[in-house]
Amino acid sequence: MTSVYLDYAATTPMRPEAIAAMTEELAQLGNPSSLHAAGRRARRVVEESREQLAEVFGARPSEVIFTSGGTEADNLAIKGLYWSRNLATTARPGTHSRLLTTAIEHHAVLDSVKWLAEAQGASAVWLDVDDIAVLRQETLRAAIEAAPDDVALVSVMWANNEVGTIQPIAELAAVAHEFGIPFHTDAVQAAAQIPVDFAASGVNAMTITGHKLGGPVGAGALILARGTEPVPVLHGGGQERDIRSGTLDAAAIRAFAVAAAACASEREAQAARLAALRDDLVHQVLAAVPDAILNGAPPGPGRLPGNAHISFPGCEGDALLMLLDAKGIACSTGSACTAGVAEPSHVLLAMGAGDSRARGSLRFSLGHTSTQEDVDAVGAVIGEAADRARRAAAR
Ligand SMILES: Cc1ncc(COP(=O)(O)O)c(C=O)c1O
Repeated sequence: MTSVYLDYAATTPMRPEAIAAMTEELAQLGNPSSLHAAGRRARRVVEESREQLAEVFGARPSEVIFTSGGTEADNLAIKGLYWSRNLATTARPGTHSRLLTTAIEHHAVLDSVKWLAEAQGASAVWLDVDDIAVLRQETLRAAIEAAPDDVALVSVMWANNEVGTIQPIAELAAVAHEFGIPFHTDAVQAAAQIPVDFAASGVNAMTITGHKLGGPVGAGALILARGTEPVPVLHGGGQERDIRSGTLDAAAIRAFAVAAAACASEREAQAARLAALRDDLVHQVLAAVPDAILNGAPPGPGRLPGNAHISFPGCEGDALLMLLDAKGIACSTGSACTAGVAEPSHVLLAMGAGDSRARGSLRFSLGHTSTQEDVDAVGAVIGEAADRARRAAAR
């Protein structure tokens, strides 16, 4: 009975034009790799979608490699580029073994890096962020300079999915390039809300996904600059220049491209509208719960316009979430729930917040269907919900 949806960072409602494109395409027959007319028609849909996405994200069509989403694109970038850098240096074993990333990445990056460290002999370097989750250029430079010849890859997300902090991606990529090191960015959250220009950013590899910008779940892409060639994670039919085998999902790809184009065409106006709604939401929450704390960068150019991530001292985030859910309001805690035990948010911990602040947080994330009524609904109930959650935690 959710009537107030404030969890856009988890997934977004599909845009009507994306639903229309996808349903039309689902009724069509043809494998884009087949040579007959039906296959060629499906191929045309895929290639037109590739061009549309390239245009939206400042890339060349040939640089867009379709995947099943952000998780797969991140795995392909991290593992594939690590392997390609390592294989290229087998003459000097042990070189290019360092993977530089931050502790605030999405688990698709974090756990890929951890796996390479545990199972493949990589050495993971976790770059410190500051108290608003920004990675400073000096931090990256110092970590590279410690052993510049050994770095396989730098991976830093464009915008954080929990607290909405935006990184200075072009500047960070420039530091890596001074040392000839490839740079990957997970732009899954950024792509939905701020201008993301692959070529202008200078990154070598960039992850995007459809369902965070009004497209379907199950379609994403890794954008790869010329000369950046990951070792494939999937082997099979050799689709997508042999980098990502698997029959292409023409219907989902078309809907992804349609959604991305719609999102881009209204991005500037939406950003201003969402920032105003988000600021009002924060204002109403702080008025009702005066000791609540807004985490992350201050509202402005350093923060995603649709993100409000707030700590409620003395509350368990999960309890608060369920109390709001009972009122028909959907939001999120940053924390992952492992075997029924709420874990504190790894992002907040990396920002230097204590355990209890990291546990007692909620993320409200807004998007294209969000309204003033949604914000007012939170404002109307958050004070009482926080009181109840606080009493429950004190028991
Ligand atoms: C920053 C970030 N990266 C990657 C992903 C994973 O994308 P997908 O759900 O398409 O696999 C998400 C989704 O939660 C995300 O927020």
